[in-house]
Amino acid sequence: MAATLTAEPLTLPCGVTVKNRFYKSAMNEALAGRDCAPTEAHVHLYRTWAQGGAGVLVTGNVMVDRTQLGEPGNVAVEDERDLAMLRRWAEAGTENGAHCWMQINHPGRQSPITINRHPLAPSAGKVDGEYGKFFAEPTELTHEQIHDIIRRFANTARIAKKAGFTGVEIHAAHGYLINQFLSPLDNRRTDEYGGSLENRARFLFDVFDAVRAVVGPNFPIAVKLNSSDVPIAIKVNERDGAPGGFNEEESIWVMKQLEKRGVDLIDISGGTYSKPVIQTNDGAAEDRRRGVYFTDFARRIKGELNVPIALTGGFRNATDMEHALGEGITQMIGIARPLALVLDLPNRIIRDGWQGSVDLPRVSTGIKPLDKAFGGILVISWFELQMHRIARGKRPNPRIGGMRALLFALKQHGPAALTPRRRKGRQ
Ligand SMILES: Cc1cc2nc3c(=O)[nH]c(=O)nc-3n(C[C@H](O)[C@H](O)[C@H](O)COP(=O)(O)O)c2cc1C
Repeated sequence: MAATLTAEPLTLPCGVTVKNRFYKSAMNEALAGRDCAPTEAHVHLYRTWAQGGAGVLVTGNVMVDRTQLGEPGNVAVEDERDLAMLRRWAEAGTENGAHCWMQINHPGRQSPITINRHPLAPSAGKVDGEYGKFFAEPTELTHEQIHDIIRRFANTARIAKKAGFTGVEIHAAHGYLINQFLSPLDNRRTDEYGGSLENRARFLFDVFDAVRAVVGPNFPIAVKLNSSDVPIAIKVNERDGAPGGFNEEESIWVMKQLEKRGVDLIDISGGTYSKPVIQTNDGAAEDRRRGVYFTDFARRIKGELNVPIALTGGFRNATDMEHALGEGITQMIGIARPLALVLDLPNRIIRDGWQGSVDLPRVSTGIKPLDKAFGGILVISWFELQMHRIARGKRPNPRIGGMRALLFALKQHGPAALTPRRRKGRQ
């Protein structure tokens, strides 16, 4: 099948047109040092991707507060100290007619204990599930702190625009702070930010409105939102005895409200740290089981919304992309991991009519208990290693082993990454 639909431009509600339907979804690059500043490595990585042909490149999540990181190696933008390097990053990411949008985030309680012993969240209470050991117990945000974070999102968006990024994406998915506010499991507040769905969504809407106020009406704002907090292939464990937090009905309501408020695109995802979007370290085997992620949800909302959708997760070949666009369940093709392996995937599909499939490898240390303890982290670290290679001008190397990914994770987090496990083992 000729790649006709992926090649079509798309005009967003704000009036901006993107050149094709490839939407490089956010992947934290883990390239910043302790100063949380962008580097030449970011510049090189995004220049490479821009030359690869995607219509939109979304950056890895950029934090609004350097004391509250989602991961070591995050960029944080809270003032203009790094404006010169941000300009170079934006310039590289917008080469070749690409858009480069900064993803803006606050981790809330999902801030690793190795770098943050004092996380903040809508309500106190630890992250559950096997990854809970990686996070300290958060304290409940005060009203002033909530308003400070809303101002921070707006300020980071203002600086992104000033630096030359051509849009922003607000990260409201994957269990981070905005998602925590949305989730009835995480948010047990009794003030105007908790309780009813309208109240739980208030933080997202306040952030959105504050960002819109500073960037103006003609600047793209996307929101990455969970279809639900439980990615579809996971069966809610009966032992949990609890619903999966933010659910599909609630998500649809939030999308409709965002549409009314003037959002330009909704990037659909799902999952939290407890029930992650990347469920195993099986790579292609997991993909074959799941197909394109969140397809049923995208079908469900088709016709209910006019705002463009970027469905993200599981796109590995042109046929699935053309089908999804042809069926009208998405207007953009969200792709993350394959673009760390095939850097010019959009060009290959659009220009060369490539009909192959990007098979993700199984990432394993070869030691079962290690794989079990670090499964999702191994996958993330493995792809971060690929981005580090690309940023140094090297080709990706699919043969990198799981043990190297684990060592990289330990280097990033320090040996303390093992501490919570040991402590738990002693109890
Ligand atoms: C290394 C890595 C880092 C990621 N960082 C982010 C991030 O910063 N923000 C985000 O919204 N999603 C992040 N994701 C999730 C991806 O955007 C995407 O939702 C997920 O990988 C599924 O898409 P895929 O199947 O095309 O990889 C990350 C994924 C990987 C592998």
